[in-house]
Amino acid sequence: MNNFWRKLNKNFLALAPLAGITDMPFRSICQDFGADVIYSEMASAAALSYQPKKTLELVRSDSQENNLVIQLFGSEPKHFALAIQRITDEKFAASLDVMNYHKPAGIDINLGCPASKVLNTGSGAGLFQNVKVAKDCIKAVIDNTDLPVSIKIRKSAGAIQAIDFLKEMEGLPIQAVMVHGRSLKEGFMGGVDFEAIKAIKDYFNGVVIANGGIVDKNSYNKIMTKTNADGAGLARGILGKPWLFKMLKDDNFNIDRKLIFETILKHAQLVAADNAWFIEFRKHLAWYVSGLPKAKEMRMAAVKINNYEDVLKFVHDYQFML
Ligand SMILES: Cc1cc2nc3c(=O)[nH]c(=O)nc-3n(C[C@H](O)[C@H](O)[C@H](O)COP(=O)(O)O)c2cc1C
Repeated sequence: MNNFWRKLNKNFLALAPLAGITDMPFRSICQDFGADVIYSEMASAAALSYQPKKTLELVRSDSQENNLVIQLFGSEPKHFALAIQRITDEKFAASLDVMNYHKPAGIDINLGCPASKVLNTGSGAGLFQNVKVAKDCIKAVIDNTDLPVSIKIRKSAGAIQAIDFLKEMEGLPIQAVMVHGRSLKEGFMGGVDFEAIKAIKDYFNGVVIANGGIVDKNSYNKIMTKTNADGAGLARGILGKPWLFKMLKDDNFNIDRKLIFETILKHAQLVAADNAWFIEFRKHLAWYVSGLPKAKEMRMAAVKINNYEDVLKFVHDYQFML
C-alpha cells in the first residue's frame, strides 16, 4: 500500500471535504496555495453502485492533484464494496466515457454529516451511531482496495463518543482520522472541543487531523497546540480565502487585491477547462470579494456570471476601480 499519510510532515494542512465546494477547480487552487491533502466532496456509495457515470464525474480528478482523498458516504457494506472497486478502476471510468478520471491517493468515509437526507438513510453521523454496520462498511472498503482508508468523525453523535467509536474499530487498519471537534447536536456552531481531539490523538495509532473553527493563524496555532494533532483540516475558513493555506505556512505572506483578482481569473480558467459550469463559480466569486470595497456591488454582479467572458469583464470592471 502506498500510504501517503505516513509521508506527510507534522502540522500538515488538509482541505476538508465540502459538498458543492471542493470540486476539481477549487481543489487545484487550494493545492497551489499549499494544501498538502485535498478531499473531494462526498460521493454516494449507493449512487456509485447504481449510477456510476454521474458520480464518477463528480469525483474525477486532475493528474496534477497530489494526495487527493475521495470521500464516500453510505450505509450498506455492499454499496461501499462496489463503489470502491469502481473508484479505483481507471479503465471502468474510461469505459463510461468519464474524461480525466484518475485513481485517488486515498479513500475517506463520512461518519459525521448531519444533513437530514443523509442521516435518514443511516449514513454520515447516522452510520457513526450504528457501530456494527459502520464497522462492516469500513471493512468492506478496506477489503476491496489497496488505497489507504481514512474516516471523518465528530467528537460525538447521540450517545456515542468518538473515542468509544474508535475503540470499537480496533483491529481495522484505518490509516487516518479527521475529527470535527463538535457534536452532532452542535452541528457547525459553537466552540471546538480540543480535549476530545487530544484524547483521540493519545489513543489512535494512525494520523489524526484536527478540524473545526480554523480561520486564521491564531485559531490554527491554538487547535494544533491544544490537540497535538498531526495535521489540520480547513473548511469554512478557506471559503473565498484559499490563500489561508499559504498564510499558515509562511509568516511573510500577505494577500493583496492583485492576487485576489489573479486567483479569481485562475479559478475561472480551471472551471472553463473543466465543466464550464459557472453557476457554481458565482458563490466562490462572491466569497472572494467579500470584505473588499464595493463588495455588495460585486456580489450583485457575481450572480449574473454565466461564462469565462463574464468573469473577464468582471475582473476588468473591478480590478482597478476599487
Ligand atoms: C457547506 C458544507 C459542506 C460540507 N460538506 C462535507 C462533506 O461533504 N463531507 C464531510 O465529511 N464534511 C462536510 N462538511 C463539514 C466540514 O468538512 C467541516 O467538518 C466543518 O465545516 C467544520 O469545520 P469548520 O468549522 O472549519 O468549517 C461540510 C461543511 C459545510 C459547511
